Amino acid sequence: MSRVAVLTSGGDAPGMNAAIRAAVRGGIALGIEMFGVRHGYSGLIAGDFVPLGPRDVGGIIEVGGTMLGTSRCPAFLTDEGQESAVRQLLQRDISGLIVIGGNGSQTGALALSRRGVAVVGIASTIDNDLVGSDITLGATTALGIALEAIDRLRVTASAHGRVFLVEVMGRTCGYLALMAGIAGGAEAILIPEAEQSPEQVAAAIKDAYQRGKSHAIIVVAEGARYDADALADYFTEHAQRLRFELRVTKLGHVQRGGVPCPFDRLSASLLGAAAVERIQAGQHGILLGIVGGEVAAQPLAPICRSPKPHAPHWLELARILAR
Ligand code: ADP
Ligand code: F6P
Repeated sequence: MSRVAVLTSGGDAPGMNAAIRAAVRGGIALGIEMFGVRHGYSGLIAGDFVPLGPRDVGGIIEVGGTMLGTSRCPAFLTDEGQESAVRQLLQRDISGLIVIGGNGSQTGALALSRRGVAVVGIASTIDNDLVGSDITLGATTALGIALEAIDRLRVTASAHGRVFLVEVMGRTCGYLALMAGIAGGAEAILIPEAEQSPEQVAAAIKDAYQRGKSHAIIVVAEGARYDADALADYFTEHAQRLRFELRVTKLGHVQRGGVPCPFDRLSASLLGAAAVERIQAGQHGILLGIVGGEVAAQPLAPICRSPKPHAPHWLELARILAR
């Protein structure tokens, strides 16, 4: 019987648990002995493994976060760290590894693959910054949380005639901000892929008021050059001239801790089960994601080098819909 381990790494994302559950139960159905690695690459280096049976992954499909724990692990960037990780797997005769995580974690998966480990990655991060998956596990849930917050802020913005600045996560990727801005009806959206100056944002808000709007929402990605702090400083400095009353909300980690939405649970279930099937079939060094609504596999190497392309027409649509 072959042995396969699963770990979660990097920022936790809603749906990781559902993916662990599907990998474990799917693997056992294929006759594979399944193990979990606790705390991502830190646990892999330290040999923190736990056997997982069907009952060990019960009651988690609807829970955010990850039952295995996760980590940012600088030690894994070193040769010693990666050699130790490989040794830990060999010592336990574990021949396959499933890495559930984002861009950095999949770069780590590629490093292990190059060291001979049969690795399959599952694209999972709220940032949706991975090429090879139209949408990553957790991003849809995080988007829902951002939207709920924007809807609430709009109510109070409208009551007071204020401008609200909402900063969302996403690291260097503007996906969450752009989608939350469009679906939340924002008057301005700032993303790292298409920088705007504070002057341009102020002009957009002024214009919105001149068109008869009584309040405004600005959605800014945390990775934008002018983030919430920079914009707030600008608006404070120019308060007399602009005459906007501004309030700032940084959503931060609130976006990560949600109950996985139906799409994330379903995708996670498909991806987790597909990961063990691929390992069983001898296909590895790949990332599994959702492309065109289906599970799709891409080689890890090009994915880890590529930034996700930005679609400028979304930003243009946002401008049109904010009229
Ligand atoms: P995410 O996977 O959510 O993007 P990180 O970028 O923090 O999160 O990556 C998670 C972990 O993956 C890092 O702490 C590190 O252990 C590992 N990792 C990141 N980049 C690399 C790399 N270039 N080579 C090897 N391992 C990496
Ligand atoms: O990668 C997911 C993410 O939530 C990013 O959006 C954010 O920049 C980062 O992780 C925050 O990391 P940490 O939880 O380590 O503060």
